[in-house]
Amino acid sequence: MDEKNRIYIFDTTLRDGEQSPGASLDMKRKLEIARQLAQMRVDIIEAGFPITSPGDAAAVKKIAAEIKGPTICALARAIEKDMEVALASLKPAKKSRLHVFLATSAIHRQYKLKKAKSEIVHLAVQAVKYARNRIGEVEFSPEDASRTEPDFLYEVVEAVINAGATIVNIPDTVGYTTPFEYGNLIKGIFDHVPNINKAIISVHCHNDLGLAVANSLAAVRFGARQVECTVNGIGERAGNAAMEEIVMALDTRPDIYGKHTNVCKDQICKASRLVSSLTGMVVQPNKAIVGRNAFTHESGIHQDGLLKHRKTYEIIRPEDVGFGETQLVLGKHSGRHALESRLHKLGYQLTAKELEKAFENFKQLADKKKEVFDDDLNALVDTEIISAPKTYELVSLSVLTQTGKEPKVNISIRSKAKVHEAAGSGSGPVDAAFKLVDKIIAQKTRLLDYQIRSVTVGKDAQGEVTVKVQDHKSNKVVIGQGVSTDIIEASVRAYLDAINKIVYRGGVLKKDSGAYGV
Ligand code: KIV
Ligand code: ZN
Repeated sequence: MDEKNRIYIFDTTLRDGEQSPGASLDMKRKLEIARQLAQMRVDIIEAGFPITSPGDAAAVKKIAAEIKGPTICALARAIEKDMEVALASLKPAKKSRLHVFLATSAIHRQYKLKKAKSEIVHLAVQAVKYARNRIGEVEFSPEDASRTEPDFLYEVVEAVINAGATIVNIPDTVGYTTPFEYGNLIKGIFDHVPNINKAIISVHCHNDLGLAVANSLAAVRFGARQVECTVNGIGERAGNAAMEEIVMALDTRPDIYGKHTNVCKDQICKASRLVSSLTGMVVQPNKAIVGRNAFTHESGIHQDGLLKHRKTYEIIRPEDVGFGETQLVLGKHSGRHALESRLHKLGYQLTAKELEKAFENFKQLADKKKEVFDDDLNALVDTEIISAPKTYELVSLSVLTQTGKEPKVNISIRSKAKVHEAAGSGSGPVDAAFKLVDKIIAQKTRLLDYQIRSVTVGKDAQGEVTVKVQDHKSNKVVIGQGVSTDIIEASVRAYLDAINKIVYRGGVLKKDSGAYGV
């Protein structure tokens, strides 16, 4: 990929992100997030604001010492003491940057700083010069740049570049700007700052109007080369531009932006989950790219379209951002096509008639249950739709139990007109009987669940056993049922019922030998 069209990703999850109310992170957690950011190959990690607390300074130092790859950056006001503490924290880093900021807008000058324009320019220049004498890379941010008079902003930008800043950030500190206005501001900087080719223009947008990502992307269209952002868009107040949205917008729309980042897309969801769990900030389900529902399709029309061609309703492959597969949630809006496709994945090959019946029963179930899971479908098809041919049939069963001794079981099973016998013991009669069945059919299954209930009343009540069995080879899961007044017999019948279904669904049947091992 060409360097000139590369957008640098400056991640400030550990600094501005950590300024989210209630999201404070200790050193161990900061380090864990920094490792993930390095793994996903962000260009710059803003690790903290060291003057704010000794803990933050120590965390920046630790990250500077341990994290290799990205440039490690620390924030400081345009005050010597701040810069000194930040510089000390950055010392162990291989690649480091000091980020110095000073507000430039009229409202900040008048009420917060009580300084004239000329004083602001002077302070900014002095700070950048001071920093440049101590470190090779200095970024300067005119805080509240988007509300600063453009002509004054141009003056500040030119002055700090002359003083040695090689990155100039244009923050929309209060999330006030709009894409049109911000794009024009960035264009204005390129048009009016004579030494602009000596610096990289960076953007840093807050999300107070929900425009942080749109504003950042508008700036990219007009020449910004660095985007400051956070994982999951966490940050001060309504947060910052979300890194995953910036990266994926650039990746998905090269026709619009013609730019790329070096971020490993497949690490995006891992980073999102890590940041969410370590900060305790839950990601809203419909959050773009990383929300639980971001790749889940519920509408029947959408599900049908997706199954015909993925791109009908999907602009990003969930696998590409490390999300796992597209989820079709089966519910009352789902259509026949979605049901058929899911049943097929579960290993069922139903006739048109069986499918019709399954669809009817599925709709009834979906009316009662919001989401229909694979287990529900297995139970529905296995118990209500399919009656598998009896490849294996119980002929006889005898069980001898004696207190303090292992039970002894004799069993005979018919398959294709041949009767197979086996005898053995186990830790209990059901265990012994199931082992003998396995021996006779010579194939591996895993018993996932076993339930027994009485279907009639009285001592001679019929017991109904339901088993959930997984075929070892195909991983298909089936439900088997058996009824008898003898609960061991009911168990064996249920188990054989499940195995017959596996055979019927093609999991174990060898082409011409009838069945495995018999
Ligand atoms: O929002 C902002 O202005 C900031 C600066 C310190 C860059 O976070
Ligand atoms: Zn900010």
